Amino acid sequence: MPKVIEVKNLVKTYKKGRKGGETFRAVDNVSFSVEKGEIFGLLGPNGAGKTTTLEIIEGLKKQDSGKVTILGLDNLQHTTEIKKRIGVQLQESGYLPNLTLGELLSLFASFYRHETTDIKWLLKLVDLESKEHAYVKDLSGGQRQRFTIATTMVNSPEIVFLDEPTTGLDPSARRSLWQLVKNINGQGITVILTTHYMEEAEFLCHRVGIMDQGKILEIDEPAKLIDNLSQTSQISFLTDAAVDEAVFYQAPGVTKVYNHAPKTILEIDSLNHIGEIVEILRSHRIKFSGFMVKTASLEDVYLDLTGKEFDND
Ligand SMILES: Nc1ncnc2c1ncn2[C@@H]1O[C@H](COP(=O)(O)OP(=O)(O)O)[C@@H](O)[C@H]1O
Ligand SMILES: [Mg+2]
Repeated sequence: MPKVIEVKNLVKTYKKGRKGGETFRAVDNVSFSVEKGEIFGLLGPNGAGKTTTLEIIEGLKKQDSGKVTILGLDNLQHTTEIKKRIGVQLQESGYLPNLTLGELLSLFASFYRHETTDIKWLLKLVDLESKEHAYVKDLSGGQRQRFTIATTMVNSPEIVFLDEPTTGLDPSARRSLWQLVKNINGQGITVILTTHYMEEAEFLCHRVGIMDQGKILEIDEPAKLIDNLSQTSQISFLTDAAVDEAVFYQAPGVTKVYNHAPKTILEIDSLNHIGEIVEILRSHRIKFSGFMVKTASLEDVYLDLTGKEFDND
């Protein structure tokens, strides 16, 4: 697949305070590429540098050093040309209050002189057909976010940038937005998004870059990131008497035992040996209850990479 975005050794520094010369790297030597037709996600906690990275690619900010090529064009030299061919949803957006959704979309489309913008089709795409004559202030959070995505589509972009598209939405609105992102991608449009929701990255993204403190720690398909963990799953159960943990290490695939009687947690490297583990418990006449299997998630990948819980507060 051809690459539509290539980022090499990107660095952006900011001043730490309003005054004084001390600076820090909000984006610290970041490299990645995005393939045509993919949904690529930057996943990381608040302050990781996701928005700054996106804004540099979009041409809204300039990097201190490093190279960004988007649709074959250099971000610093061809900013105007790039803006015509991408759709950008900002983390915050405001709209003229006295225009309806239909009028706002026509207005945005007029900025691009794109004769083909079909407002009704766009409203249908984001499931707001019935709201053509409504005002933004009368929309729910989820509808408003879907409308914002419609505005990014008025110029038939080749790449759409979504910065935390579901932050603040309730779970059902979030799922409907996920479907919308998939629909947009289904039209052949490349999507690059940021999120601090693990399950969102896992559900939506073909590939994810895990970002923390300005750096990308790992990039891969969510399933591969999870597979690469030495511990992929956990089994937990309760026993009515303490068990010598050496017993558990006899079982195939067990990489670690947490023996907090009555609760036992086993880390296992594959789900294939669960039957054998249960057999071992039985053969030692261990009575157990509350048997649970928890497969690893991106959250465990993050924990493994950073040594800390994913914390957004
Ligand atoms: N204009 C700015 N001036 C100074 N610091 C900034 C500016 N914009 C962002 N930062 C800081 O840079 C870091 C990365 O911010 P940002 O890219 O917004 O992260 P994210 O989108 O992952 O939450 C944060 O520490 C943030 O406070
Ligand atoms: Mg951000």
